[in-house]
Amino acid sequence: MRIGIVIGSTRPVRKGGAVGAWVHRIATERGDAEFELVDLRDYGLRLLDAEVVPSDAHGEYADEATRAWSRTIGSFDGFVFVTAEYNHGVPAALKNAVDVLWPEWGNKAVGFVGYGFDGATRAVEQWRSIVAATFMVAVRPQVALQNFADFDGDDFRPLDRRERELTSLLDHVVRMTEATASLRG
Ligand SMILES: Cc1cc2nc3c(=O)[nH]c(=O)nc-3n(C[C@H](O)[C@H](O)[C@H](O)COP(=O)(O)O)c2cc1C
Repeated sequence: MRIGIVIGSTRPVRKGGAVGAWVHRIATERGDAEFELVDLRDYGLRLLDAEVVPSDAHGEYADEATRAWSRTIGSFDGFVFVTAEYNHGVPAALKNAVDVLWPEWGNKAVGFVGYGFDGATRAVEQWRSIVAATFMVAVRPQVALQNFADFDGDDFRPLDRRERELTSLLDHVVRMTEATASLRG
């Protein structure tokens, strides 16, 4: 079972990298799945400009960066999205990265680790609608990291209880990934 931990911020200086590394460190200590970090910044995806709508493309994409992204996302059985909140919504780069693919997301579990002034809870609620449209299955537990409580400036200093919250999220992602295996064929 392979779970991708997707860092969705593409900014050169960002909180998302430290949060993703923390999720990855705790996840790899579990031993019940293979967890891999995926940094969206490495892929240089353009804003969706494919002539063929992704849901009609049967996983074949004209753009090489999209093909590389497709290979990576297609290799996972489930996901953790590490998401900021921008202007009370989902970050556009990560939304675009979802939009450019289609079959690679379907019937896979996803959990959300959000961070922001209010724990990115507005963004995560939006993500729940978005991922449902792609046939992903979102788990209820989430981690809502707060800029003033869990960070000192850009330094990530999570509260003690965050590890327990992350463990609950990962428990559910792993279980839902197992439960949806037969749907992925
Ligand atoms: C364009 C933009 C909009 C933002 N809007 C919000 C917001 O609506 N809510 C919030 O909690 N933080 C907001 N922030 C602040 C982010 O929480 C903070 O900048 C965080 O570091 C962004 O994540 P990143 O560094 O991983 O990109 C915004 C930041 C940016 C760049």
